[in-house]
Amino acid sequence: MHDGFASPEDRAAFITALPKAELHLHIEGSLEPELMFELAQRNGVAIPFANVEEVRAAYAFSNLQDFLDIYYQGMGVLHTEQDFYDLTAAYLSRAQADAVRHVEIFFDPQGHTARGVAFETVITGISRAFDDAQARYGITSKLILCFLRHLSETAAEATLDAALPYLDRIAGVGLDSSEVGHPPAKFERVFARARALGLKIVAHAGEEGPPAYVYEALDLLKVDRIDHGNRSLEDLALVARLAAAGMTLTVCPLSNLKLCVVDDLAAHPLKTMLEAGLHATVNSDDPSYFGGYVNANYQAVADALDLSKADLVTLARNSITGSFLDDAAKSEHLAAIDAYSRA
Ligand code: HPA
Ligand code: ZN
Repeated sequence: MHDGFASPEDRAAFITALPKAELHLHIEGSLEPELMFELAQRNGVAIPFANVEEVRAAYAFSNLQDFLDIYYQGMGVLHTEQDFYDLTAAYLSRAQADAVRHVEIFFDPQGHTARGVAFETVITGISRAFDDAQARYGITSKLILCFLRHLSETAAEATLDAALPYLDRIAGVGLDSSEVGHPPAKFERVFARARALGLKIVAHAGEEGPPAYVYEALDLLKVDRIDHGNRSLEDLALVARLAAAGMTLTVCPLSNLKLCVVDDLAAHPLKTMLEAGLHATVNSDDPSYFGGYVNANYQAVADALDLSKADLVTLARNSITGSFLDDAAKSEHLAAIDAYSRA
């Protein structure tokens, strides 16, 4: 067994209670089939599945677009403020069970406003669940508004306009959806405006797209973090630049497996990233669709790559240092991780 653990069970137990942050989680991707059915019934929405087993059977994807088609269909059951509350509360309860102490959650307002659901309905339900989870579990949460990159920059500008009354509840903006053919350069102006508003900047880059998209995220969008970033490893100069900048990558192992970004978790680049000095973190992306919440991601990749205790502590520490918490909160969380790993 690798240094630090007597057995795989010992490592699993360590992961279970390891304090951590989750930095790459699409709230709409945490919609479990059971809740999908409940909301479909509550809202009188037809869904093309007879039962939960049929839904789960449909979750076989050969690439990102395969998944996105079913993800946008799934979110169609979300209509009321209570729906967004229930969705977010369910995720935060799972996060609490995985020893997540802080989360930075993506939401896709354009996936809702396009269906006639008001921006305010979405953000009010999510925020109410954040407040309750902080009171109940002590989990802190931040919200990141993602622009859908398969839509136009004009549509992204209109979404940023709709967000203006709620900027006190939004920590940053991101970029998600179909990557290839929709490079970061397409959104340079709207991200510049978001930066000028004081928002943090993240972008999915290098999941399916080439290293050039990661360069654009850095140089044109001026990102504070890269979401995924796997394909950065194809360019050694880019790896050196990301390492020197201390750029956080929000890596999602089970997502990568389910979307065929990797063929096998044993071939996952996470360990290589750590060895190259990249500030990688482990996250669940869309846990309902990809078969596991954050601890399942830590567990699967730790088993596949035989991660050491030092690796796991580094990943948890990276999740805190790469967050948008202030320095005092980061210090507290880092001290808790260190105390846990010594105990
Ligand atoms: N990639 C791009 N867009 C997404 C994802 C993802 O993993 N999940 C939800 N929207
Ligand atoms: Zn994602």
